[in-house]
Amino acid sequence: MSAPTPHNAAKPGDIAKTVLMPGDPLRAKYVAETFLKNPVQFNSVRGMLGFTGEYEGTRVSVMGSGMGMPSIGIYSYELFAFYDVDNIIRIGTAGGIHKGLKLRDVVIASGASTNSSYFKQYGLPGYFAPIASFNLLRQSVQAAEENGVRYVVGNVLSSDYFYTDEATDTMAWAKLGVLAVEMESAALYMNAARLGKNGLGIFTISDLLTTGASTTPEERQTSFTAMMEIALKTACRVDSGNAGK
Ligand code: HPA
Repeated sequence: MSAPTPHNAAKPGDIAKTVLMPGDPLRAKYVAETFLKNPVQFNSVRGMLGFTGEYEGTRVSVMGSGMGMPSIGIYSYELFAFYDVDNIIRIGTAGGIHKGLKLRDVVIASGASTNSSYFKQYGLPGYFAPIASFNLLRQSVQAAEENGVRYVVGNVLSSDYFYTDEATDTMAWAKLGVLAVEMESAALYMNAARLGKNGLGIFTISDLLTTGASTTPEERQTSFTAMMEIALKTACRVDSGNAGK
């Protein structure tokens, strides 16, 4: 297969080397309009909006991933394999399951545990540990330090379930130090590993499964901006030759 694909109308060259991926395509539009200079839309197939623009002189793209591992699995695979994208930074919200987390904390996912069967396609004689690109991780931690943002680095759970029959199924992961639950990063990390590319997930904690607390829309907006500034700084630095593999 080659570009355009059944899910992405962009032509080769329309997409930057680094793509930021929120789950919500309207979030992608908001990011493009708020943070990028001269954004140009490259996709609207299935409403999965994607844009390329500039941030502080660096070409950056932003595109929705949809919800869940099958969805980000498709879009990230195509970006890496058919559009020559090197770096995908997922930006999203996650539910805190670890006692130490507070609402609005930024979580940078060094690893993504999962209850999904996505890894079965590789036919491995065991379980794969999906991990972030070290270079993206390093750049994002440095950006968080510089920006004075409270952040935690560690494992997240990429779950196939938003609604679970037993809430304890999700909480069990906290016993092993897993910080928060979201629904996409493990597929991104596996695609990146398989294709020799770089993936990273950065999250703000929008709710705490430990207490049932959740952020207000205003709080979500402020923490979203803090997370975006980390992601954009990371995108600029990897683009200027610090990406590595
Ligand atoms: N589960 C899955 N994904 C999420 C959650 C959650 O509780 N909160 C934010 N993203």
